[in-house]
Amino acid sequence: MNKEGVKTYLVTGGAGFIGSNYIHYMFKKYGDTIRIINVDVLTYAGNLENLKAVEDRDNYTFVKADITDKEAIAKIFAENDIDRVVHFAAESHVDRSIRNPEVFVQTNVLGTAVMLNCAKAAWELPDGSFKEGKKFLHVSTDEVYGSLPDDENAFFYETTPYDPHSPYSASKASSDMLVKAYMDTYKFPANITNCSNNYGPYQFPEKLIPLIINNALQGKKLPVYGDGKNVRDWLFVEDHAKAIDMVQEKGRLFETYNVGGHNEKQNIQIIEIILETLQEMLPEGDPRKAHVSKDLITYVEDRKGHDRRYAIAPDKIKAEIGWEPETMFAEGIKKTIAWFFENEEWMKNVTSGDYQKYYEEMYK
Ligand code: NAD
Ligand code: TYD
Repeated sequence: MNKEGVKTYLVTGGAGFIGSNYIHYMFKKYGDTIRIINVDVLTYAGNLENLKAVEDRDNYTFVKADITDKEAIAKIFAENDIDRVVHFAAESHVDRSIRNPEVFVQTNVLGTAVMLNCAKAAWELPDGSFKEGKKFLHVSTDEVYGSLPDDENAFFYETTPYDPHSPYSASKASSDMLVKAYMDTYKFPANITNCSNNYGPYQFPEKLIPLIINNALQGKKLPVYGDGKNVRDWLFVEDHAKAIDMVQEKGRLFETYNVGGHNEKQNIQIIEIILETLQEMLPEGDPRKAHVSKDLITYVEDRKGHDRRYAIAPDKIKAEIGWEPETMFAEGIKKTIAWFFENEEWMKNVTSGDYQKYYEEMYK
């Protein structure tokens, strides 16, 4: 913290979906009383357009760098007195991990090791303790816990053993273990959050919700994997941003907190809600009203190793920190669709080029 009490945050992956929402949330909440340095290498999922509204702020800096690049990351720590690390940067899409696992290990495991090492080197005192007030938050997923049965009383807890199935969740589980190892071995000041599926503005349309919104508006088929009855626990992204901030400010160091929406739905239910909400929100006379319909639903081959059900009981974060999901799904999905209506250009830009190639390969 500097003399004026301004904390400096190093956010990795801030140009992605959750990272950019987090940056907007933090500036809305703290204004000029924080500084944010956003480090992102800008993969297909990183988009500086997500941060247009903040890019001219004096207390915001973007650094294009790869988290696996030790020198680049060490340089940021050397040049800035970093108080908080919030580590989002990762390869995040399960389907891509099934096709190309290696980059997931590279970024999610090695990249996390580099972040931990650089933070440790910058924050460690000669006696092996750490400078006062420094904190690292590792943003992870509930997918590390594996898959739950179709039983509405079964939930993931912080004590649930890790049992990842996809290369994505295995790489995230490995990165969580590294953070745990740093905490256990060095008393490195960190927390881990394991969150359920997010949705909201700026989500890349390879993920279910934005993909369905985008396809339905264009009258394209809506691909449903398997029987469509896999369950995910959906959380509005701003609620996740708030949870991350609350864990860093109020959580006990070295603890893991599960973050979830209490909003379990089958994929097919999500698709039906999106179709109904689109019909409701599209103005009379809009030509898209004619093709937004269940006729677009197309059952396709199941994802390999497809986890059946995820569900979080966010009891610990509620009891210890007072965080609860605030945005009901009916409201969150309206906000999300309204955002996509207002940001058609964003969608056009991110779905041109490389994404087109990915989409054709994936759904051929
Ligand atoms: P995203 O794919 O939208 O964004 C990832 C960001 O990381 C991008 O901006 C990308 O450019 C950047 N990045 C990737 N590799 C990098 C590298 N080597 N160096 C620097 N930057 C790099 O992902 P997201 O959905 O915003 O997820 C963010 C984090 O939250 C991830 O760690 C993910 O595992 C976790 N998470 C996501 C969800 C979800 O539903 N999306 C749920 C729980 C946890
Ligand atoms: P996704 O958004 O990829 O998140 P995750 O796999 O990390 O949970 O997928 C959410 C659910 O939707 C998952 O059960 C897979 C399913 N799904 C489809 O049925 N069709 C699709 O085109 C996509 C992308 C996902």
